[in-house]
Amino acid sequence: EGEVHIPPAGFSFSGALGTYDRAELQRGFQIYKEVCSACHSMHLLSYRNLRDIGLSEAEVAAVAASVQIQDGPNDNGEMFERPGRASDRFRSPFANPAAARAANNGALPPDLSVITKARNGGADYIHALLIGYAEPPAGLTLAEGMHYNQYFPGHQIAMAPPLSQDGQLTFGDGTNATVDRMSRDVSAFLNWAAEPELETRRAMGVRVLIFLAILGGLTYAVKRKVWADVH
Ligand code: HEM
Repeated sequence: EGEVHIPPAGFSFSGALGTYDRAELQRGFQIYKEVCSACHSMHLLSYRNLRDIGLSEAEVAAVAASVQIQDGPNDNGEMFERPGRASDRFRSPFANPAAARAANNGALPPDLSVITKARNGGADYIHALLIGYAEPPAGLTLAEGMHYNQYFPGHQIAMAPPLSQDGQLTFGDGTNATVDRMSRDVSAFLNWAAEPELETRRAMGVRVLIFLAILGGLTYAVKRKVWADVH
């Protein structure tokens, strides 16, 4: 079976000088929160990290407070639940991998913190995967509880299509929530989660190149001057 070609999605952050689109990242977070977080953890992220995609301090506090976090033990040695704070990590949907498998037909929904780094094709792959569900080709019988996906290695995936209907959710910013739009936006959000430093890293690269160009020019001028009298 040959390599599957992943169509590039044309993200704002692809290419050497690309940057994130804050509105897209915020829509992507909304999708993660309303859809993906039912099964997938993002244990490396804290609610306060959402400041980086443009949420205000009050918005971050409200997002955090909307979930119940396990804490403890208290003075009596008991565990308890309390509303989340900005400093908490994203709440995980399941207590442990065994519980996650039990709820998903034996399959483990991977943590999505660095998924764009962990899969060939990165955000382009996630986007392709989310829009890649199709009828299985004639003659292929799917295993129990599996779904056919053009872009998943092996083509049989335990995840049912999570974004299957236009208008499945209503974006806060009024953007039309087509399946392709939602798939793009959540893939962009996952890319930001894995690479929040992308923009500063690229800006630094540009500054380094400018510095080297100036230094190179100076070095050349000095060399010409120093050697000017040597015949
Ligand atoms: C696997 C993304 C929603 C259950 C995956 C993978 C990604 C992903 C990137 C890994 C695919 C790979 O290994 O290459 C998402 C996104 C979601 C979402 C972006 C929201 C839009 C859900 C929901 C459920 C779920 C709601 C549960 C009802 C699973 C399971 C797997 C999986 C069980 C493992 C599949 C397998 O290995 O066969 N998902 N997911 N996902 N997801 Fe999701």
